[in-house]
Amino acid sequence: MKRLFFTLLLAITFPIDAEQSTPPPVEFLHWWTSAGEVRAANIAKQALEEANVHVEQQAIQGGGGDTAMSILQARAIAGTPPTIAQLEGPAIQSWAALGFLYDLEQLANQEHWRSQLYPIARAVNQFEGTFVATPVTIHRLNWMWVNHDVLRQYNLSPPDNWEALIDTFRTLKRHNVAPLAIGNDQWQIALLFENLAFGYGGADYYRRAFMDMDERTLRSETTFEILSLFREISRLIQPTMSHIRWDEATQLLIEGKHAFQFSGDWVLGELLAKHVTAPEAIGCYQAPAKHTGFIYNMDSFALFNSARSSRKTANTLARVLSSKTFLTAFNQAKGALPARKDIDLNQFNPCSRQAHHDMEQAEQNGRLLPSTVDSMAVSPIVQKATTSEIYRYFNDESIGPEEFILRLENIPRGK
Ligand code: GAL
Repeated sequence: MKRLFFTLLLAITFPIDAEQSTPPPVEFLHWWTSAGEVRAANIAKQALEEANVHVEQQAIQGGGGDTAMSILQARAIAGTPPTIAQLEGPAIQSWAALGFLYDLEQLANQEHWRSQLYPIARAVNQFEGTFVATPVTIHRLNWMWVNHDVLRQYNLSPPDNWEALIDTFRTLKRHNVAPLAIGNDQWQIALLFENLAFGYGGADYYRRAFMDMDERTLRSETTFEILSLFREISRLIQPTMSHIRWDEATQLLIEGKHAFQFSGDWVLGELLAKHVTAPEAIGCYQAPAKHTGFIYNMDSFALFNSARSSRKTANTLARVLSSKTFLTAFNQAKGALPARKDIDLNQFNPCSRQAHHDMEQAEQNGRLLPSTVDSMAVSPIVQKATTSEIYRYFNDESIGPEEFILRLENIPRGK
């Protein structure tokens, strides 16, 4: 009786705020909607739930994340940003500069991020020398995925240069096989172009032409050769293309409706989620290139100081989402490399181990480059303008190389 009396007295004296007892669910905004991506995103949700953080996911469809970023901007302007958002590259600095992100310096020091992260994962997740996002994935973008059965059927082997690839496309078309699994959208077409420019021109050419926009390089013979190959590819595949998503293209590759797909190793995540063997049934090859190189993009999680969050919650989220256990499970499912060096890759898929080997080699040779078309090398505005010019050229025969180059040169490079 006495105890009940004191409990009631306490409740009256110090009313317990219902909110405090059950913190509001955190909102996790991302653009992971394909089978492999959902599997990985659910690993993040589960890791947080195990830390007593209830998660509501806002998954926005659209490879590359353009739509997700528009929704994030709208929510931020409306004053209701999510708690966690998937962000990439220079956009992280923009959000930090606007004061939206929690700094994670305390955790970064405790977890030795400056030594444990791959060099490419350090600066991109910092603003003015302070960590403001947790690095999660390193995706390789210059992959050629190959349906081995389809090639075997026509006595073909995976080509190691772009001219041979185009010949293989012609042979497959003679057998009524549409060679390439790809949707006719800006992001997928731009990724194909990036693989061609990097592979055919080489890392130095690619850096100077599409990152530095060096006029002499952009106007060089190499650019004209690349654009002529790109035009040939467009003539071979554009007539039979449709507006399918990248994961729908992967499904058609799996079914043998196509022989090739050029995309990042989120494709590997898709294959694993669908229990398709890689590299056995679907092979993973570096996209044809002069030398071993590695085009990367990187997913990070940024913690927004929203009404639903607090410094305490942000620290909990960042700790869970940067742990070795989480990064191992998440990246194995996602098909990517973890951004931390101290994670054993022996249990990762052979394609991922190949990616790691090639990344180390490319880093030594200065051929490890951020993607220009997938949110790493240039600002979102420059990226959008560049990918739309690539898309226009691919879909419009009347645009010649000179006009394409001129339009690229005219893209404002300020912010
Ligand atoms: C990329 C992102 C990847 C992958 C892909 C397709 O921008 O970094 O994680 O999911 O989009 O949606």
